[in-house]
Amino acid sequence: MPPQLNPPSTPGKLKTDKYYPSYSHRLRPHRITLFSTLLLALIVVFFYLSYSPSSSSSLLPRRSLIWGGPKWESRVRSSAKLRTGGRFTVLVTGAAGFVGTHVSLALRRRGDGVIGIDNFNDYYDTKLKRDRKHLLEKSGIFVIEGDINNKELLEKLFDVVPFTHVMHLAAQAGVRYAMKNPASYVHSNIAGFVNLLEVCKSANPQPAIVWASSSSVYGLNSKVPFSEKDRTDRPASLYAATKKAGEEIAHTYNHIYGLSLTGLRFFTVYGPWGRPDMAYFFFTKDILSGKQIKIFEGLNHSSVARDFTYIDDIVQGCLGALDTAKKSTGSGGKKRGPAQLRVFNLGNTSPVPVTRLVSILEKLLKVKANKKMMPIPRNGDVMFTHANISSAQREFRYKPTTDLETGLKKFVQWYLKYYPSSSRRSSW
Ligand SMILES: NC(=O)c1ccc[n+]([C@@H]2O[C@H](COP(=O)([O-])OP(=O)(O)OC[C@H]3O[C@@H](n4cnc5c(N)ncnc54)[C@H](O)[C@@H]3O)[C@@H](O)[C@H]2O)c1
Repeated sequence: MPPQLNPPSTPGKLKTDKYYPSYSHRLRPHRITLFSTLLLALIVVFFYLSYSPSSSSSLLPRRSLIWGGPKWESRVRSSAKLRTGGRFTVLVTGAAGFVGTHVSLALRRRGDGVIGIDNFNDYYDTKLKRDRKHLLEKSGIFVIEGDINNKELLEKLFDVVPFTHVMHLAAQAGVRYAMKNPASYVHSNIAGFVNLLEVCKSANPQPAIVWASSSSVYGLNSKVPFSEKDRTDRPASLYAATKKAGEEIAHTYNHIYGLSLTGLRFFTVYGPWGRPDMAYFFFTKDILSGKQIKIFEGLNHSSVARDFTYIDDIVQGCLGALDTAKKSTGSGGKKRGPAQLRVFNLGNTSPVPVTRLVSILEKLLKVKANKKMMPIPRNGDVMFTHANISSAQREFRYKPTTDLETGLKKFVQWYLKYYPSSSRRSSW
């Protein structure tokens, strides 16, 4: 987890000279010597760190410094090698994440070369991320432990492998956590995205980039279903604001450097190997342990609803977007012509009330939930989401096929296998 960025203290407020003129004057030469020594020491440390070929951003955990060298490069090349039927060499960011793992496996299954990168931050259980990494490694996918803010690492990767595509899924996700740790959203979703685009624009050849935006960009939009043409200038959370900023940043890099960019607005993705911070996941955990679950509702007990989208459908959409992405037109940081810029909703088109989600889970787990209805807090959550997917349907025949009950059944099967001690005797 990157540390919080502390704002610098206001300079010039402590005017010691004014209050202690003679004392300060007498000590000044010593102070200057001490200050210069400290400054010199800091400069030496700084240059030492930046000289190291595998150095990285100061915001990174120490472990991510380990990369580079012939053995590492040969692992990278072998993971990026095309197998039978493969066409693309894809760098997947956030590969140890929920969606990243599924997309990486799907690419590998069809023979594409895949390299993953993930910083394994502890926003949620890192064991789950490590187990996903293990799963990927069993399929021959190398997941590099590194941060997308690490320019040298990304440049090195592009030196070793001429990636045709980047599937950019690394991000600080979660709506409510943005109030606790806003800096992490700026670090990953803005600074990290810009750093990645900087490296992509200078690469030769430039890759085509498909990246995850979010349905949260629709914010306070009340027109349903949400269409890509609707307003997205009223985000209800910092998370949403950083995703919206990402869409604008994508426009800039497309316009100036000719990068081919496709943004995908995912709608509440769920499934096996999912994210423990999401309601379907922690409801399952809490129902099994007998803990009370809080279900949000709107004014006059109106339902909160989500367009829950099963992971396999999202993966199908990601591959469709990659397959129809046109090449970037620039090279060596220069635009050579107009390039493709797209944005698509990837949802299920059938919103389901959260109360219905809970009753499906109760049935599948054979345990009655201890429920408490609560008014929806004003911390970023919206009342409902509902995707219009006709653009994605037209462009790459995106067609979700999994209803919530079928998808949750697969999730619960995985959950009970992954957390065997969580099973509980039926109270149904
Ligand atoms: N799951 C959903 O319902 C949903 C909905 C809308 C949008 N999205 C977006 O889809 C993408 C994937 O989401 P997910 O559900 O798999 O989330 P996730 O948190 O499981 O995956 C993101 C991964 O990115 C990694 N990461 C974060 N910051 C990084 C950085 N600076 N450098 C390198 N790695 C970093 C994390 O360690 C994590 O493994 C994200 O961009 C998310 O915002 C997800």
